Amino acid sequence: MTKIAPSILSADLLKIEKEIYDIDIAGADYIHIDIMDGHFVPNISFGYNMVKTLRPITKKILDVHLMISPVKKYIQEFINAGSDIISFHPEADDNAEEIINLIKQSNCKVGIAIHPNIKIEEIEKFLPKADLVIVMTVIPGFGGQKFLNDQVYKINILKKIKEKMGLNFEIEIDGGINNQTSKICIDNGADVLVAGSYIYESSDFKYKELIDSIR
Ligand code: DX5
Ligand code: ZN
Repeated sequence: MTKIAPSILSADLLKIEKEIYDIDIAGADYIHIDIMDGHFVPNISFGYNMVKTLRPITKKILDVHLMISPVKKYIQEFINAGSDIISFHPEADDNAEEIINLIKQSNCKVGIAIHPNIKIEEIEKFLPKADLVIVMTVIPGFGGQKFLNDQVYKINILKKIKEKMGLNFEIEIDGGINNQTSKICIDNGADVLVAGSYIYESSDFKYKELIDSIR
């Protein structure tokens, strides 16, 4: 069954504990935490303190998506904060290989995030060590953007690479997911779907129905 990873970027931070609890019981699989530095992307969100704050209030997998540059100097903080999966954009740091090893040595899972401007060939060499690959279907930086259909082909390519090379990373799609675009992703081989605004900014607050409608 497709896993769902609500992104707290669109959650109400005034009641973050309840927001986490509500998606937890509504059947979320991962909790997606978007870290933005105002440099790699044109927006600032949270730091590792957010991961540290959420760690004690849920047993769900904390799926941390780093949109920061550089990356390496902050990795240990994100590990210590209690991340379960740490994903980063390899073009954001010259030490991508070393970052992957650092994350894996700490028993966290490692994810490779693919910006819409980056081709699969440019990140292919990292795939054998990846536990997760994020296909970005918006330009990273903001929630609530329109799904980029022209990125869907990457899901197919990744699925073929997985089969051909006998790899077992999960394919996660991030950006513009709703009950329509989710179907396109699932039909093409997505394992995990991130959804921010569709879940948290919906006018009715029935998180379980919203999550089920994407799944
Ligand atoms: C975009 C972030 C996404 C974002 C998704 O830069 O990486 O995770 O929160 O938000 P929606 O689902 O609203 O596109
Ligand atoms: Zn994200």
